[in-house]
Amino acid sequence: MDSLKKTSVPSVRATKVCVVGAGYVGLTAAVCLAELGHSVVCVESNPQRLAALLRGEVPIHEPGIDELMNRHAGTERLSFTDDVEVAMDDVQVVLLCVGTPPRPDGEPDLRQLGRAAAGVVSAARGDVLLIVKSTVPPGSCEALELLAAGHAREGVNVVVASNPEFLREGQAVWDFFNPDRVVVGIDDPQMQDLVTGLYPAQWPLVLCDRRSAELVKYAANTFLAVKISFANEVAQLCEALGADSQKVLAGVGLDARIGGAFLSPGPGFGGSCLPKDLGGFIAVAQSVGQSAPLARAAQVVNSEALDSILRKLEVALGSLQGKRITILGLAFKPGTGDVRFSPGLGLGEALAQRGVLVRAHDPVAAPVTTSMELVSDPYQAVVGADALVIMTAWPQYRELDHERLREEMKGHVVLDAVNVVGIDEVAHVDFDVYGVGRGLSTDFAPVLWPPLEWMLDSEPHNAAVSR
Ligand code: UGA
Repeated sequence: MDSLKKTSVPSVRATKVCVVGAGYVGLTAAVCLAELGHSVVCVESNPQRLAALLRGEVPIHEPGIDELMNRHAGTERLSFTDDVEVAMDDVQVVLLCVGTPPRPDGEPDLRQLGRAAAGVVSAARGDVLLIVKSTVPPGSCEALELLAAGHAREGVNVVVASNPEFLREGQAVWDFFNPDRVVVGIDDPQMQDLVTGLYPAQWPLVLCDRRSAELVKYAANTFLAVKISFANEVAQLCEALGADSQKVLAGVGLDARIGGAFLSPGPGFGGSCLPKDLGGFIAVAQSVGQSAPLARAAQVVNSEALDSILRKLEVALGSLQGKRITILGLAFKPGTGDVRFSPGLGLGEALAQRGVLVRAHDPVAAPVTTSMELVSDPYQAVVGADALVIMTAWPQYRELDHERLREEMKGHVVLDAVNVVGIDEVAHVDFDVYGVGRGLSTDFAPVLWPPLEWMLDSEPHNAAVSR
């Protein structure tokens, strides 16, 4: 656990806290707040998830949570219940960590948040501070305060604050204890310390109004999405030009003003956050008459990433109908078992629709699906396959025995959508490797011609100069 913290965590003034929702955000917050010294009661309404938590089991794959659960669950620092009345006994501070999934039109569905707030406020016997950790569009905290006040007992005041969460799945505990920033949006200065006091005073703090805090989260995830889509656009260009996107983007990212993080091209971003928050950002912009062209472009590029993989498979295999294709990697990224908006799962479904017999392997994720056969060993998964597609950059896929894979496969097509296969490492194996942005094109003539033309004193250029 100590490896998940940069330094020993400074102490805080212990507070009794109710956390509503034991998903990635809520469970991480609950165990980490307990570790900081707070006394946490976590409300979970899903009976299976609650039963697992009460047995001391962690229902998600997240490094570091098990250890904190073992240390604190069942002590006065950490308990779980589905009874809001019990949870709200003598509690003023509530963290709302419920889901805000997207509706089909991209607008966020905030009904869980409304229900959770109504539940805790109805149970509160004294003033209550609701801290919204869930990602919500600007204006939500103010709206929630109005809604919640309608459920409060006589004389009970409700204040709502925004404290968005920036943790990444797979690194949630590390991110909690090593935050780049803690953002707190609150309009009531008297309640401010109750929120900021949950965290060590040394952690970088951005204190602002609630709408700004809410927008920090949407804007940050939208920027990350734009950055990845930019990397994917550059990678597409590299393929057409015969350039190497890994070198190009490394060269771009070393500019300190740009930074190398989130410049890895791949099969498109997935997960429950980036696609959802990008859609939410666009919906919010449109609700105030703006069109958010940058954000929309990031969405377009992202949806083209899967099309590009399908196109490459068609180039390599001809018709896909009846072919056997193996997918390695179903989690939306390494380090998690989450398959929400997962490119690997999306590809499997798209291939199955085209009549492909799909087999898949993932070290952690085990989705319920009829589109593909899940196999527990990667070498077993490729037996008889015409092509292999690597969709998640799990470390174990960097260590694969390529000769053994080739022996088990029928065909020799490897589509490495996350660039984990070293081209030099497989040079001696009879594989055709297609990466992302790694120079598919061998026909340089059309690429050479425009620059040459642009160097010559031809008519249009002269005309432009003389004007
Ligand atoms: C993201 C943000 O990174 C967190 O800061 C935020 O708190 C979280 O959403 C949230 O809103 O709750 P997460 O969805 O866990 O975190 O995953 P990321 O590590 O951001 O990856 C998102 C997707 O982008 C993955 O599919 C990943 O493979 C892809 N990605 C990431 C790339 O394709 N290229 C990159 O260079 C980086």
